[in-house]
Formats: sequence, C-alpha cells, structure tokens
Amino acid sequence: MPPQRHTGVEEDDAPAKALDLALLRRLWYFIRPHQRWLWAGLACLLLMSGSRLMMPWLVKIALDDHLSIGDLEGYYPLVLLFLGIALVDASLRRLQQVLVETGGQSALRDLRVALFQHLQRLSASFFDRTPTGRLIGRVTTDIEALQELFASGVVTIAGDLLFLVATIVILFSLAPGLAAASMVVVPILICVTLLIRNRVRGAYVKMRGKLSEMNGFLHERISGMAVVQMFNRETATLESYGEINQGVRGAQLRTVWWETLLSTSVELLSSMTIAVILWYGGAAVAEGWEAQALPTGSDYLTLGVLFAFIDYMQKFFQPLNELSLKYTVMQNAMTAGRRVFDVLDVEDHLPEPEQPQAPAQTRGELVFEDVHFAYDPEQPVLDGVSFRVAPGERVALVGATGAGKTTVLKLLTRLYDPHQGRILLDGIDLREFASRDLRRRIGLVPQDVFLFEGTILDNITLGHAEVDEGRAIQAATRLHLDELVQRFPGGWHEPVRERGRNLSAGEKQLISFARVVAAAPPVLVLDEATSNVDSHTEHLLQEAVHDAMEGRTSLAIAHRLSTIRDVDRILLFHKGKLVEQGTHDELMRLDGRYRRLVELQFSS
Ligand SMILES: Nc1ncnc2c1ncn2[C@@H]1O[C@H](COP(=O)(O)OP(=O)(O)OP(=O)(O)O)[C@@H](O)[C@H]1O
Ligand SMILES: [Mg+2]
Repeated sequence: MPPQRHTGVEEDDAPAKALDLALLRRLWYFIRPHQRWLWAGLACLLLMSGSRLMMPWLVKIALDDHLSIGDLEGYYPLVLLFLGIALVDASLRRLQQVLVETGGQSALRDLRVALFQHLQRLSASFFDRTPTGRLIGRVTTDIEALQELFASGVVTIAGDLLFLVATIVILFSLAPGLAAASMVVVPILICVTLLIRNRVRGAYVKMRGKLSEMNGFLHERISGMAVVQMFNRETATLESYGEINQGVRGAQLRTVWWETLLSTSVELLSSMTIAVILWYGGAAVAEGWEAQALPTGSDYLTLGVLFAFIDYMQKFFQPLNELSLKYTVMQNAMTAGRRVFDVLDVEDHLPEPEQPQAPAQTRGELVFEDVHFAYDPEQPVLDGVSFRVAPGERVALVGATGAGKTTVLKLLTRLYDPHQGRILLDGIDLREFASRDLRRRIGLVPQDVFLFEGTILDNITLGHAEVDEGRAIQAATRLHLDELVQRFPGGWHEPVRERGRNLSAGEKQLISFARVVAAAPPVLVLDEATSNVDSHTEHLLQEAVHDAMEGRTSLAIAHRLSTIRDVDRILLFHKGKLVEQGTHDELMRLDGRYRRLVELQFSS
C-alpha cells in the first residue's frame, strides 16, 4: 500500500440548504424509533391551528350577531367559549412542544452515542490529523444546533404553512376585496426576506467557523495551562484569545444585525397591512352604516368582520415572521447536521479481517519483514526494518530520540499498519487478527501515560471483565505499587483526577505498567517504563520488569542502558533503520554505535 495523505475532518464553511432532503433522510434513521412523539406533536399542532382559526371568527359572531343587536344573553356564552378555546390553545401549544422535544432529544441522544461509537473505531492516524477541539465541537455544539430542527423545525413549519393557507382562505371568503388589499404586502415581504436571508445565512456560517476556532483554542490552552504559566505566556495567550474573541464578537453582531433587520421589516410590514385594513375596511364599514339607511348597498363590512380581519392578519404575520427566522435556524441545523454526518462518514479505520485468525495459544514469535512506514508520506520513519524475536525472548530497543522505536511498538499493537512489508505474530500477519484479539495477545505500556478519572484500581482494571480487583492488586503489588498506595488516604480507591493530575509522573507510570501486567498478555511491550521514577523505585521496577518479562516474549525500549543489560538481545535503531543487533557484549565488541552510546552515558 503506498503511503497516502488522508485528510481529517475539515472545517466546513459552505452554507447548507435550509431543507436538505438527503440529510433529513439520514436523520430519519435516528428519528424513526421515536417518531410516535413527533406524530403526536403534529396532531396537537393541527388541533391548535384549528383553535387559533376559530378565535377571531368567534369574536366576529359575538360582535355582529349578538352585541350589535343588544343580545347580551347570546353574547356572554360566546365570551366564555372564547376563553375556553384560549385555554385549550395554550395547553395544546405546551403539549406539542413537550412531545416534539421528547422525540427530538431522544433521537439526538442516539445520534450522539452513534457518533461517539464511530469515533472510537477511527484509526490513530485520523486523530493525528484532526484537532480535538474540532471533534468536540461536532459532538456538542453541532448536535445542539440540530436540536433546533425539532424545537422550531420541520413539524412546526408544516403547521405554520397550513395555518397560513387556512387564514388566506378564510380572509377571502369573508371579504375578497379587503383580503386582496391586505395581501399586497406579501410579495414585498417575500422579496425582503429573500434579500436579507442570504446575508443571515452567510453571517451564521462565519459565526460557526469563529466559534469552532475559539473552541479549539480554549481546549488546547486550558489543557496546557501549566505550560502557559510556566513560560509566562499569559499575556501573549490572552492577546491571541482576545483576537479570536474579537472575531467571534464581530460575527455574532453581524448575525444579530441581519436577523433583527429581517424581523423588524416583517413587523413593519405587518403594521402597514393593519393600516391598510383600517383604511379601506373603515371606509367599507362606514359605507355599511350608510347602507343600512339605503338597503340596496352590497359591498360593505360590519365591525365584527373588520375586527376579525385585523386579528387574522396579526395571527398571519406572526408565523410568517417566525418562518423567516426559522429559515436561518433550519439552515444552521442543516449545516450542523452535515458536519455531524461528515464525521460519521469518515471511514478511516484499519480494516478488520473478514475471517480473523484466532489460534488458541500465543507462542509469541514476532517477525518484522522489510517494514516501511511513515506518518507523513514525505518523511519515512521506518525504512525497511526486519528482525525476528523468538518465543520467550527478551529484546531491548535502543537508539536516539526520533529513531523510530515507539513507532515500532505502535505498529506492533496495530495502531497503524505498515505501508510496505509485514509484521507476523506466530507466523500470522497482524492484519489477519481481529484487533480486539490482537490487543489481548500483545500488551503495551505506552510512553505517554494516560490515566482516566476514577480510582487507582479503576485505572488498573480499566473495567476489564477478566481483570478482577484481586488480580489487579496482586499485579500492582508485584510492582511495589502498594508501598506508594499506602500513603494515600483512599488506598487503592484513592480518586485519580482527570489525566491523573494529582499523581506524580512515577506513580502514573507504575499504574500504567500495572494495568498491563494485570492483564497478563502473552507478549509484553514496554515503552520507557522506568524513565520517571527515582533510583530506589527504579531498582524495584527493574525487578518487576524482569519478572514480568520472564517467560514471555517482550520488547522494551529504554534510554538508560543500565536497565537492559540482562536482556537476550539488543536492537539498535538509527534514523528508521535497524543498524546493529546482538547481546550487550557482542555489541560492545562490535565497537559501533552501541558502544559509543554506552560510553557516552557512562562518562556522564
Ligand atoms: N503521530 C505522529 N505524526 C507524525 N509524525 C510522528 C508521529 N509520531 C512520531 N512521529 C515522527 O516519527 C519519528 C519517530 O518517532 P518515534 O516516536 O518512533 O521516536 P522514538 O525513537 O520513540 O523517540 P524517543 O526516544 O524520543 O521516544 C519522529 O521523527 C517523529 O517526529
Ligand atoms: Mg519513543
């Protein structure tokens, strides 16, 4: 396989359509199990539209048919009915919101889980390329934006549209002339909305980009706060943060500017329409009063109709106003949705074999056959590495910084695949193993220790079913971790804070080591297991490492050559190549790089 440069998840700024059907179809997969909530919400919405449409009509009847002829007996019951409908309307509105949100939040919960599950399957090289802050943004803020899809989304918009159409029908049946006059502003409204809408869209896209930039920055600087403080970078960091923030402010203000322009335009047009109704409608009502004296008149209006018109028109503009805002909200949600699905679409995981090999026993023979590898295609890191480790053999990897030692171990645990050549365990290519199975056979103590929040014991067992607490404590005691743990008030259950920041580097390293020893893998791989401990602990650890390596194939990287004297063989790496191998004595006799390395260390 030739080296390839994959791209990570890109920052995605292109505006989305407000209604992206392909995207909705994908979302539907997550909504479908919870669709009954949405259907119930839709039913409420239809009932609610009905009650809203009834209210002005009821007032019209009360005014024209009862109040105007002094029939209070018929008038008061209608007022009570009006109140009743208003109560039903309010309850339906609330119920509808709760139903739709319940369905929506359930779908989003599932989506978040799916997204995280997907992230857990992606390869190490994907995470090398993609900034953490960006990924966190996808799982948090983008999913939050998607929530708007439900809050003010599809269901509500469908209800709004239906309400608008019904209102138009009623208005035209009440008084066609006046209805036509009040619809004059609608084309203007559409033009204004279309014009401003694009601006709002652009502003939103910019804002998301700025927010994501800020997230990334904050994530990095907060995790690295100690370094910022230690190197007196507070002022400079604050300045950079200030600049990013200024950008966020500007972007936010632009969205507010265009959004308020849009909503105030709609409001102004609504008031203008009411003025039109009052103007022409007023004239028609007055005509009606005259017409009562001259019963031949036909095109006149009653006060009740005029009231109903104004009320309907106000109710008409409210969803219209919201619709124009919802448009941007929907667009936002669609952009966010696309970003979420972008991550879900990343197919960057190491291929799993269709029929994995799973020999019952691991003998522990390791073979590297002409292995080539590079993180970045332009810079080869391993350049034709070949060696064999016999079952039960203890091997040490040495070499200068950046020589590629850690990379050898990463390939061995299949965090990456070689670009050329093969790595075999007991004669089987690593790619033929299911990765879960492979990682049970080869245990790695990594160079960068990573502890999770929980207790010390949690961090040793890591929730492994086959590692019970007794075994974990036994393994840790063999590493003399019990002496250290006794000093903590909580003992084995002493809480470990995020990344183990309440523990010393040596303590962390011991825990990370115990984690692997407890799982007792047939092949043990250690990366600098003893670099951070004091000489007393180092001595104890050396014994433990010795113990742990005994009887199983093991590879250990160590910078301190004193710690690896008793291994069976030493492999010396230089610039991605295996340049010398043999026992300590053989390599000393060879009088090459190894000897110089040893002399350098012992002279200091
Ligand atoms: N994730 C990565 N992405 C890109 N380049 C990397 C990555 N990890 C390591 N490298 C590069 O690969 C080379 C070999 O790194 P490696 O970690 O294998 O060195 P090492 O021999 O373990 O060094 P050290 O003794 O300092 O731990 C280095 O030049 C390093 O810059
Ligand atoms: Mg290393």
